[in-house]
Amino acid sequence: MGEKLNGRKQFRLRIEKLVYGGKGLGRFNGRIVFVPQVAPGDLVVVEEVSRKSGFSEARLVKVLESSEHRVEPLCPYFGKCGGCDWQHIDYKEQVEAKRLIVEENLQKIGKIRSPRIDEVVPSPSPWNYRNRAQIKVRDGKVGFFGKSSHQLVEVERCPLLKKDLEGIFPRLKELLRELPTEPYEFHLYSSSKGEVLLKIVYQGRFKRIDLSLEQVKEILKLNLVGYGIYKVANGGYPERIKFFGRDFTYEKVGKFKFRVSADSFFQVNIFQVENLITRVSKAATEAQFMLAGDLYCGVGTFTIPVGRYVHRAFGVESNFWAVSDALYNKDINGLRNIQFFCREAEEGLKIVEDYSPDLVVVDPPRSGLSGKVVKALARLPRLRKIVYVSCNPSTLARDLALFHKFGVNLERAKVLDMFPQTYHVETVAYLRKVR
Ligand SMILES: C[S@@+](CC[C@H](N)C(=O)[O-])C[C@H]1O[C@@H](n2cnc3c(N)ncnc32)[C@H](O)[C@@H]1O
Repeated sequence: MGEKLNGRKQFRLRIEKLVYGGKGLGRFNGRIVFVPQVAPGDLVVVEEVSRKSGFSEARLVKVLESSEHRVEPLCPYFGKCGGCDWQHIDYKEQVEAKRLIVEENLQKIGKIRSPRIDEVVPSPSPWNYRNRAQIKVRDGKVGFFGKSSHQLVEVERCPLLKKDLEGIFPRLKELLRELPTEPYEFHLYSSSKGEVLLKIVYQGRFKRIDLSLEQVKEILKLNLVGYGIYKVANGGYPERIKFFGRDFTYEKVGKFKFRVSADSFFQVNIFQVENLITRVSKAATEAQFMLAGDLYCGVGTFTIPVGRYVHRAFGVESNFWAVSDALYNKDINGLRNIQFFCREAEEGLKIVEDYSPDLVVVDPPRSGLSGKVVKALARLPRLRKIVYVSCNPSTLARDLALFHKFGVNLERAKVLDMFPQTYHVETVAYLRKVR
């Protein structure tokens, strides 16, 4: 539905649904139009900003009829700050939109006619859930970039951040005044133990910092246990130059304890991590598995819980710090049947093939699995089940289509909301090898 207004590139549009990336979708004269900051059911006036083959991008001009799912955004920076997409939509509808997005990706890209999504798990709290933040710094100001831009939006609070980090921004500005060179970013991580690690990240040249851990702690008024100086080259991972104090903290998740180093990955949603671990490890109890392999295993977040139910387990991970945490974590959790290997997943395939697991867990970055990894896993002679944890439904669906070609099929999937107020979504997909 839609009509051209005043002969300009403005038209009326009814928003049908939300799509991966966060925009709303409507149709004008049969042409698909994507618009940010709208809600399903909205009747809006939009202006076309670009035309591509088969679809247009538009900006919201005016809401004529408001969707029943619209709510007042909590945060004054919403719309300017690029961190959130959906604060203007009630939380129940955000979760439903994510379910639909996963379902549609599995249908369209994965070519699975009726994918079975047997559970949708909302975040127990849609606010104050994030344990990590990468805060941008420019010209004495701190905040986040705007949507698809490198313009800094200065903020004083962020309601997505864990309570101890939520209002940290003015204190970071104070710290900034004490630093001899302006950094590029501050990275903060606050563990479930309430211990905070800080990274001061530079790009290019910078002068030596003489602040002690105690001085930085005093300025930030956080339970800071360590801070590090890092340097980042364009697009790369920050490289550690120096660390003061402790460079790791601990996470307690249910009955498991994890050491997490400043440079290791850990799940960001403090309220959902246990739900995620349970959904993954329960798969190991559904049959008697001899050997479980966990690729992209991080600090052993799934390897260790899964390891309790299987005869033996092993993890493969490319980050050296994460592997050293994982080795430590198997000991503090009292498990002797687990091994970890520091390898890129593709390099680690030789190990996977030699071990020949019957259960495999994968949790790759957004880019998903390479064709080589999919093929090698699908051809494992003893393979019975794969649990694929994904933070990108498009690459998940692409990989599932390839798994299908090699006789490994989707049984069911679960959608977990690890990232409220954003379009990001976590899926746990359970695949079975057809014999
Ligand atoms: C989404 S995280 C998952 C980690 C862990 N499963 C968890 O839940 O905490 C992805 C992990 O894959 C690792 N990684 C990224 N690229 C990799 C690669 N090519 N080979 C092996 N590991 C990789 C990252 O260091 C990170 O720890």
